This record gives sequence, C-alpha cells and structure tokens, in this order.
Amino acid sequence: MTMAVDWHLARALLEWQVELGVTDAILAEPVDRFARVEAASVPVVARQVAVAAVPEGPDPVAEAVRIAAAARDLPALAEALEAYPYCDLRRGARSCVFADGNPRARVMIVGEGPGADEDRLGKPFVGRAGQLLDLMFAAIGLDRASPDAENALYITNTVPWRPPANREPTRDELEMLKPFLLRHIALADPDLLVIVGNVACDALLGRRGILKLRGTWTEAAGRPAMPMMHPAYLLRNPAAKREAWADLLALKARLKGGG
Ligand code: URA
Repeated sequence: MTMAVDWHLARALLEWQVELGVTDAILAEPVDRFARVEAASVPVVARQVAVAAVPEGPDPVAEAVRIAAAARDLPALAEALEAYPYCDLRRGARSCVFADGNPRARVMIVGEGPGADEDRLGKPFVGRAGQLLDLMFAAIGLDRASPDAENALYITNTVPWRPPANREPTRDELEMLKPFLLRHIALADPDLLVIVGNVACDALLGRRGILKLRGTWTEAAGRPAMPMMHPAYLLRNPAAKREAWADLLALKARLKGGG
C-alpha cells in the first residue's frame, strides 16, 4: 500500500519527530524494525546458514590502500575518496569534506571530522571550533587563505564524512579511511603536521590521551608532528588556552628553524 503524504502531513510528521527529540537523519533510508524482529526470531542454525551464504566482498582497507595509492594528485585523491563505496558514513552525510586552505602550505592540520556546519558547507573547520582554530593560527601569522606557502595553512580531517549525530568514528571507519589520509599527507607534503584532538592522534599516532601528548614533538606520516588540543575542547575549557598558546609558539619556533 502506498500512502500519499501531502505537504501539511509531511510537516506535521517532521514536527512530531523534532518534538520527540530527533536531531539528525542518521540513515539515508528508513529501517524496517518489524522485519528485523522477524529476522531475529529465526532459529540460530537457520541464521548461521543465511550468514554463511553471503558472499565475501573485497576488504575495504585493502581497497582503500589500492585506490589511494593510484591517485597521482590531490584532485584525483579527492575524487577517489568521494567515490569510495565501503564507508557507511557517506550514506548519512551531505558532503565529502576533503580539505581547505593552501595545499602548498608548510603546515598541514589534521582534525577529527566534519560537524553540521562543515557538512553543509563542504569545508573543514568552518563552525565555531573552526573560527577559534583560525584565530589561534592567525596569532602566529598562519592563515588558510594565504597564497604564500610560508604563512599558509592546509586543513583536512581524519574522516571526510560527518558521523551521525557527531559520534566518534569507529575503529573500522578509521582503518578504512587512514590510507586516504596518509596519501593526502604524502601528496600535500607539508613540512609539519598539527594533529588536532584524540581521534586524529588515534589515526596517525595509534595513541590517545591528547592532554599528555600535546606540546611534545613527535613523528607522523614520516614528518614532524605536534599534537594539539581540539578547539572544540578549548571552547569548553577556556583555561586550557594557555597550554594551546605554548604549543602554537613551539610550532612558530620550529617553522623559523628553532625548536
Ligand atoms: N571539528 C573537526 O575536527 N573538524 C572539522 O572540520 C570541524 C570540527
């Protein structure tokens, strides 16, 4: 049976969902939970047979390695990432947020993933946290809009699609998107990396604990890297800006040949 939904009914249904507390459309298609209940009531033996019958698809990580390695430049990588079919995050996002800024910049920033504003506008770090990020780096003379590589910034994220309801990316998602991130860094070839927040540290350093990691130079993707606190954390904890300022000064000193 198909139900004709007129504009007023559709609006009333939407308002009802908002009233119930729905904030995000998490999946592109509706889930038939009645069908799930029926499937769950099938005896275990029958379900095992059904699972075994599903043919194995390609390994998403191996595919990501192959596809990313084949990209010869940044536009080709952006195109390949947008077309990569194995990460479900793409199904709930409007944009594949690849990067912003000057790809010839000496400094490349790696954040976590797009939020609602980034998803809407298709650029990384354009919401409140992004505005703070811009102010922080402007304080040491770096600007994503600068055409001069010396003063420029190049900005990307660990995952290019907004996770539903801003949850953290899962381990599987991080694993399958990491080959793209590493290729992105290799093609942009910055002198220094700034790794912003725990998720980016997890992907590039295999470690979390940003409050301990921050402020100490390390190595990631074959180049010097500075872990820093995420600007969203600094918005919630303004007292931590003091340490963030020390990290920015360390970055500036390193760019000038010291540090
Ligand atoms: N937070 C991130 O880590 N990246 C963005 O692009 C926006 C917010």
